[in-house]
Formats: sequence, C-alpha cells, structure tokens
Amino acid sequence: MNKDNILEVKDLKVKFPVTGGIFLGKVAEVKAVDGISFEIKRGETLGLVGESGCGKSTVGKAIINILKFSSPDVIITGEVWLKTADDEIELLKLSRNDIRKYRSLIQMIFQDPYSSLNARLTVGQIIEEPMLYHTNMEKKERLEKISWLLEKVGLQAEQSKRYPHEFSGGQRQRIGIARSLATNPKLIIADEPVSALDVSIQAQVINLMQELQKEFDLSILFIAHDLSVVEHISSRIAVMYLGSIVEVGNGKEIYHHPRHPYSKALLSAVPLPNPDFRNKERIILKGDVPTPMNKPSGCGFRTRCPIAQPVCAEAVPPLEEKSPGHTAACPFV
Ligand SMILES: Nc1ncnc2c1ncn2[C@@H]1O[C@H](COP(=O)(O)OP(=O)(O)O)[C@@H](O)[C@H]1O
Ligand code: SF4
Ligand SMILES: [Mg+2]
Repeated sequence: MNKDNILEVKDLKVKFPVTGGIFLGKVAEVKAVDGISFEIKRGETLGLVGESGCGKSTVGKAIINILKFSSPDVIITGEVWLKTADDEIELLKLSRNDIRKYRSLIQMIFQDPYSSLNARLTVGQIIEEPMLYHTNMEKKERLEKISWLLEKVGLQAEQSKRYPHEFSGGQRQRIGIARSLATNPKLIIADEPVSALDVSIQAQVINLMQELQKEFDLSILFIAHDLSVVEHISSRIAVMYLGSIVEVGNGKEIYHHPRHPYSKALLSAVPLPNPDFRNKERIILKGDVPTPMNKPSGCGFRTRCPIAQPVCAEAVPPLEEKSPGHTAACPFV
C-alpha cells in the first residue's frame, strides 16, 4: 500500500437487484459500478467525470458506506481503504457503528443545495449536526466553530440563526461546504457540488473549494458530468462510462489530449469548448447509453464507439498505460 494515498478503491462493484413478477423475485440487476479501481493521493483533487447515470454518485456513496441504508438489497464487492497517519481501514467491512468513528474523516457535499439542507433547521444547527454525531466537542466549542466556519466560507457568523430558504443557491452550497468541514475531515466527496448553480456562481464555489483545500490540506473526490468543471480544480481526472473507468491521467493532459474515444466525445461536448478542439468537428456519438442492466459484452463503449472493431465485443479492455501516469482502457489508441 502506498503511504501517499488517502484512499484506495480496489475492484469496486455495486449491483442493485431489480425485482418483479408476482413473487417479487430478482429479475435483473443494475451494474451501477462494474469493477473500478483508483486511488486519491493526500492533498490532491481527483475529478470523476461521466454522463448522468454512469455510476458516479454510487461510487461516492459506496466510499462512505451509506448505500445499504437506502438500498438494503445492494450487493457491494471490492475494497475501499482509508489510510490515516497511523491506520489503514477497509471501510466496506465496517459495521454501521464502527464506521461512525471514521466518518468524521470523510464528509460529502451534495449536488442540490436546495434539498440537501434540512429546511427545518437553522444554518447553525445544520453545521452543528456532524459535530454532534461524529465528535465529542462541547457546546461552546461547537458554537465557536460554527461562527468560524461560516466566515471561512464567506458568510457571516450572525447568519447561523437563519434558515436555508433565506439564502441563494450559491450561499446554500457554502453552508453545505461549512457543514462538510465541521469535523476536520481529511477527505471530501463532492458530488456535483456546482451542477445546480448558475454558471456565474459555479466559479466562485470552485475557487472557494480550492482555497479551503490548500488551507486544510484536504483530499477531494470531485464528481461532475462536465469536463470543463473539473479541469480547473483537479490534479488528476478519471473518466467513467457505464460503470467503468475508461481513462485516468493528469487533469491538463486529459483535458487537452484525451486518448479514449469516449473522453474525446465527452470533451467535444463541453459548453465552452477547449480551444484545442474549437476548430475540430464535434463528435456526436451514435445511439444512447446502454442500460447498466444490460451492458454490451466486451468494451462497454463499443455500441457507440466511432472506431469499434469486432474484437471489442470479446473482452473488457483493461486500463493500460499510454504515457507515464496516463492510462486508457482501449487497445486501439
Ligand atoms: N438505489 C438504486 N436502485 C436501483 N438502481 C440505482 C440505484 N441508485 C442508482 N441506480 C442506478 O445506477 C446507475 C448509476 O447511478 P448513479 O450512480 O446515480 O449515476 P450518476 O451519479 O453518474 O448519474 C443508474 O443506472 C441508476 O439508475
Ligand atoms: S476497445 Fe474498441 S469499442 Fe472500446 S473504446 Fe476501444 S475501439 Fe472503441
Ligand atoms: Mg449523480
């Protein structure tokens, strides 16, 4: 195991059984995450991108081990290792009780700042909640921390008595960020934290996250469906398609020189095209994303790939190193 990593995910698979018929037996399964491996280094932001439905949120929820609570029948295999200064813990093996000890170290920021904050609680109570569950802080300490955190995210300490509906989307996401920092986490899983915000606000929230990351030496898994959003903040980017990671590399390299045919298509679809691509033709993929209930054999992308060959149906192509630190799951690039 590598000491530089805070998180190592190994061959993670998440399947949701689909039930039906009169006896409500299992009739199919959704392979939401189909055997992915990656690591997050200490202090780095790893961007995880891919179209809606490719399994990004499921990866985030599997890491913090909360899938079982919303979907008791879910089948999760693989390993998720959290590595602290003096401990290595396999999170998937922990019981609900045992995981509480470690949950202070990993926090999540959710996509929708409108629904992810409890409307009945004040902002102060919202930020206090994780401290109550995951720390032994005294009341006075908690109140001081709430004020301090509100100022850190660009709000005012007095605003702790207000309710979420009194804030704009961008401000609410700042509250979500303050909440995520309340337990001094080492790793933040940010699940499309700016997707629900106006474009003009997105950059402000991303800049704030970047400042906080430096100040608190955080590691971040930054999930997005749009490559242009992760490009600014990510040291490395992993591209996901239909439950699999198809390419991983340095953020700039993936943005400027993607190798995998799917990454190329994803990049050519970004709203503010990268100048390297502005004069090239947009790649319009044929067909729809297949359902994760019925994945194509071999390469999951073959039904839409512009350069697919007959052999692509035979085996799942592994991630291979194409240049130092840059891997792609396609033998033809
Ligand atoms: N609780 C669940 N039960 C059944 N299917 C699910 C559940 N959660 C997610 N899925 C399915 O898993 C796939 C991946 O979903 P998700 O991780 O939310 O994708 P993303 O975050 O990339 O949009 C989708 O096909 C989705 O419908
Ligand atoms: S393995 Fe085949 S189908 Fe998959 S991306 Fe490469 S060329 Fe396309
Ligand atoms: Mg999602």
